Amino acid sequence: MTTERAGDLPGAGYVPLDEADFYLDDVRSNAGYAWLRREHPLWWFEPRRFWVLSRRDDLQRVSKQPEQFSSARGITMPLAPEQQAKMPPATAPSIILMDPPRHNRHRQIVSKAFTPRRVNDLERRMREIVDECIESTPVGETVDFVEHLAVPLPMRIIAEMLGVADGDLADFRRWSDALIVQAGPEAESTAAAVSVAELFGYFAGRVQHHSGEGSDLLAALIQAEVEGERLTQDEILMFCMTLLVAGNETTRTLVAQGTRLLLEQPDQLESLRRGDVALPDAIEEMLRIATPIRFFFRYATEDIELHGQTIREGDPVMLLYPSANRDETVWGEDADDFDVTRRVEPNVSFGFGQHFCLGASLARLEARVLFEELLRRRSRWELAGEVERVRSSFVNGIHHMPVVLR
Ligand code: HEM
Repeated sequence: MTTERAGDLPGAGYVPLDEADFYLDDVRSNAGYAWLRREHPLWWFEPRRFWVLSRRDDLQRVSKQPEQFSSARGITMPLAPEQQAKMPPATAPSIILMDPPRHNRHRQIVSKAFTPRRVNDLERRMREIVDECIESTPVGETVDFVEHLAVPLPMRIIAEMLGVADGDLADFRRWSDALIVQAGPEAESTAAAVSVAELFGYFAGRVQHHSGEGSDLLAALIQAEVEGERLTQDEILMFCMTLLVAGNETTRTLVAQGTRLLLEQPDQLESLRRGDVALPDAIEEMLRIATPIRFFFRYATEDIELHGQTIREGDPVMLLYPSANRDETVWGEDADDFDVTRRVEPNVSFGFGQHFCLGASLARLEARVLFEELLRRRSRWELAGEVERVRSSFVNGIHHMPVVLR
């Protein structure tokens, strides 16, 4: 058994996994991922003291073993102690932070709302929203794709599922944007704390005035029982927060980054227009290359031997999704290239196993509806300026993307 920790060794490569600028430089980050996969499939990142897994099969295997790799101790990058001390205290854990059997019981409460069949029932409503967005986006002028076309659909759908009124959408968006960044090492404690407090206050009011009847998600949460007990108010509020945060920025990123990829490589857009490739397959390729969330963590519950090293009980382990999605043993030597015509292999953008994204069908359908309508109704799309990306290690978002549609 070797206890070599590559990040400590003089002359060893180094991949700054806690720096946003590293991820914003695609060439550098792809080279870093390739080095990890080839040379150090299990790598110790000394500055924040965690292990890194970078191959697709390893991520899949670990995500299927919650007994050894727990979510309950945290799934975000370990913060420096002084940063951690400033974070708002957790109230009730979200399902994303639970292990079995508790996880299964809580997941069941909302999973019915997200089955492919229930999600397909939302397609008509999605087309109405997309129709409004396209109609209200000026033709032949420079517009921000993110504001006009990527933001509204996921936000309005999850807001409607949670029974949020149209007039409250601006607040809803502000909370969601502030909270997703909280999950990365750039966490800004004050903004996050304010947003959590406001969001909880808002939903506490809604729960109080809700009759408990009906088929919306809030009714399901109010009526739900886990082992004969109703959910506490904090548990209900945490569910609402998870759904808002998990379902909003991520899908926006898929759509915005997917469009950016098509605009930067017009031959790919042409392939799609000509029908050389089915749209759902192209969306899988967008998910693979865009990888909206870059990592989640697990904590080892016991000593585990892997790749000739020992992960000690209690060690954090990073699941590095964009690297796994570029694994050359799965996608070949051109795995870094965006190619909508390539054969689809399962990517890990929605995670894997126990915590596989509850909203995957919803996000895929939202993306399909948006691209179908845009391709049908606007024959020319052009990039009209610099793309402003979100400066974050955790999410691969885009703030603004100037485009002209004709
Ligand atoms: C492209 C869009 C999306 C991406 C890339 C994405 C990504 C992910 C990933 C990677 C996980 C796994 C977490 C883990 O293993 O620890 C996850 C879980 C989750 N996602 Fe998504 N997500 C997306 C859209 C959505 C939507 C639309 C919703 C709901 C409205 C949603 C709700 C959830 C929930 C509730 C979980 C936790 C599931 C559990 O712990 O059992 N996500 N998502």
